[in-house]
Amino acid sequence: MIEKINTLIKQASGFSASGINDIENFRIYYIGKKGLITTLFQEFKTIAPEERKEIGKKINELKTIVNDKIKTEKFRLLSTKKTEEKKDLSLPGDLLIPGSRHPISLVRNEIVEIFARLGFIISEGPEIEDDEHVFSKLNFTAEHPARDMQDTFFINRKSAEQSEKNDILLRTHTSSVQVRVMENQKPPIRTISPGRVFRNEAISARAHCIFHQIEGLYIDKKVSFADLKQTLLYFSKAMFGEETSIRLRPSYFPFTEPSAEMDVTCKICGGKGCNVCKYTGWLEVLGCGMVDPNVLENCNIDSQVYTGYAFGMGIERIAMLKYHINDLRMYFENDLRFLEQFRYSF
Ligand code: PHE
Repeated sequence: MIEKINTLIKQASGFSASGINDIENFRIYYIGKKGLITTLFQEFKTIAPEERKEIGKKINELKTIVNDKIKTEKFRLLSTKKTEEKKDLSLPGDLLIPGSRHPISLVRNEIVEIFARLGFIISEGPEIEDDEHVFSKLNFTAEHPARDMQDTFFINRKSAEQSEKNDILLRTHTSSVQVRVMENQKPPIRTISPGRVFRNEAISARAHCIFHQIEGLYIDKKVSFADLKQTLLYFSKAMFGEETSIRLRPSYFPFTEPSAEMDVTCKICGGKGCNVCKYTGWLEVLGCGMVDPNVLENCNIDSQVYTGYAFGMGIERIAMLKYHINDLRMYFENDLRFLEQFRYSF
């Protein structure tokens, strides 16, 4: 029996197909329901137990060879077929459809470019951060609600007895990058930090657990609120059009004092009032303020000598206003019907 199998192995190894039908016949001949290998296994039952081990091995070897042969022959036929195919060189070429940039990237690039004109440089930092850079150094008190489990995704939360400062978490804003810049650079500092941020929120049309921010920071001697206002006005006109006006409403952030929220005139109704601006004529776009002296001191910058301003905005929100997108989830669904609309925007 061994000899018989050896001849079959030789035969199968030497097989070469000239068409796809040959391969099918080869398959049926060896491993079809009534094929040779089935017969061999039937014979196998009748042989003496001491021979079984060796013969069983041989039959399996044959089976592997046949299966491999089927695969390699199929591959060989398909690849040679392609090169032999006759080409009609007069046919028109395939239509090449260019890819498109994601609206978040488009708006991010536009914002970065506007601030670059004013001398701001980009800084980036880690998405996985520690409590110190996201909260403590930014003057968040220990009980501040933003630290709560509801808002922050904690990766490694220390127990109450351990120092709270060492919590590892996903950054909830890119202000953490600015803390790192302040720690490592001497003023004047003029930087913007774009990036992904994470908050533990239920996903809906108006909220998402991942979104993008751009935050700006300017620190030097004699930086005033007037500088902040002028910079934001310049940005708003460049971003939303020359006719845009801004207004600043008092607000609160732990890391700025005074703090404000900035609105721009509604582009859709031109300030007259519509359902997008909820008939106020204004749209809220960012938070800002003068850097709290405590924050400067926490980062070893002398608050007697230096002052600074900071601002931060959500890229999704700006893109919503710019492109009239009304559902945040669209940014993350990768629906081509949505993405293809940005094909010719750069
Ligand atoms: N970091 C704030 C936020 O995430 C935005 C902000 C930045 C506000 C800088 C004021 C100054 O909401």
